[in-house]
Amino acid sequence: MSENVLEIKHLRTSFFTNGKEVRASDDLSYSVKKGECVAIIGESGSGKSVSALSILQLIPYPPGLVLSGKVMYEGKNLLECSADELEKIRGAKISMIFQEASAALNPVITIGKQICEALLNHNPGMSKKDANKRAIELLEMVGIPNADRRVKQYPFEFSGGMQQRAMIAMAMSCEPDILIADEPTTALDVTVQAQVLEQLNKLREEHNMALILITHNLGVVARYADSVKIMYGGSIVEEGSAIDIFKDPCHPYTIGLIRAVPRLDKPKSWGLHEIQGESPDMSKIKPNTCAFYDRCEYASEECLASRPRLTNVGGENGEHFCACHHIDKVKENRGDLG
Ligand SMILES: Nc1ncnc2c1ncn2[C@@H]1O[C@H](COP(=O)(O)OP(=O)(O)OP(=O)(O)O)[C@@H](O)[C@H]1O
Ligand SMILES: [Mg+2]
Repeated sequence: MSENVLEIKHLRTSFFTNGKEVRASDDLSYSVKKGECVAIIGESGSGKSVSALSILQLIPYPPGLVLSGKVMYEGKNLLECSADELEKIRGAKISMIFQEASAALNPVITIGKQICEALLNHNPGMSKKDANKRAIELLEMVGIPNADRRVKQYPFEFSGGMQQRAMIAMAMSCEPDILIADEPTTALDVTVQAQVLEQLNKLREEHNMALILITHNLGVVARYADSVKIMYGGSIVEEGSAIDIFKDPCHPYTIGLIRAVPRLDKPKSWGLHEIQGESPDMSKIKPNTCAFYDRCEYASEECLASRPRLTNVGGENGEHFCACHHIDKVKENRGDLG
């Protein structure tokens, strides 16, 4: 598990509305190894979806625009690929499960036909009969009962959880190298969430597929992620293995996220901690200051004077990075999080 299957370098995507620039992805860099599960965490509006959509050039223009950077896949920069080249990569090599499954499915075409279309698009030699057989197999694979009957149904005949699974089946139909799952389970109830995630993870293991999992749920991260990226204000503020992030969090925002999770194993005095202040208005974040400045108990003049860069803080595999001017002080004061 060492070969990089995707490399994102200095990605900048902005939205231009009311004469203001919102840097939704601001100098974002990370790589994804073959078969790896990378989790991207951050509160609403931190740029998770925008950075994922930028990978496949799916940013709506206007008001959005990928301004600079590279997304390297199989020796090519996806940001420079033609529409035709991208069409061949999307779905077949890099698939995406969108935040809202119901919006991504066509309401007037049966689930089976939608999966078959995806299959036939990417396998021109495949017969319709084989495509239909494969569609049923895929629905079975994602845990849809009576798949041979269900394949003939329309999206409205599927529950939210089943629609989400149908999306996964469609995304898996071409056995992609990379699956980007943007909050794949937020619309689902907890038991279905667990099933869908187990399914995704199983598919990852069986096909050595890389999974970029965008989520708010730290429990999910702890269970599935090999590598974790914490995003704040369009940038990564901390990254490392799941163990680095949970056992040795170094950024005040990461610590805030961990402390905000309710804990049944702690006495009541542990309480519920929330991160002070409101999620940032991205149009007000200044590129040369720490984006977390307004909400940070450690904020100093230095944080206003320059944006901290990601620096190596060691970690399990020597790949734990944090962007904060006060790492030592933060570690000293963070207390017991275990
Ligand atoms: N279509 C758009 N028009 C204008 N601004 C946008 C648009 N989409 C996103 N943005 C801006 O980009 C920022 C990042 O949005 P993004 O959708 O990536 O957030 P997110 O981290 O995925 O949040 P969530 O957890 O709510 O899905 C937002 O704060 C918003 O300011
Ligand atoms: Mg999003």
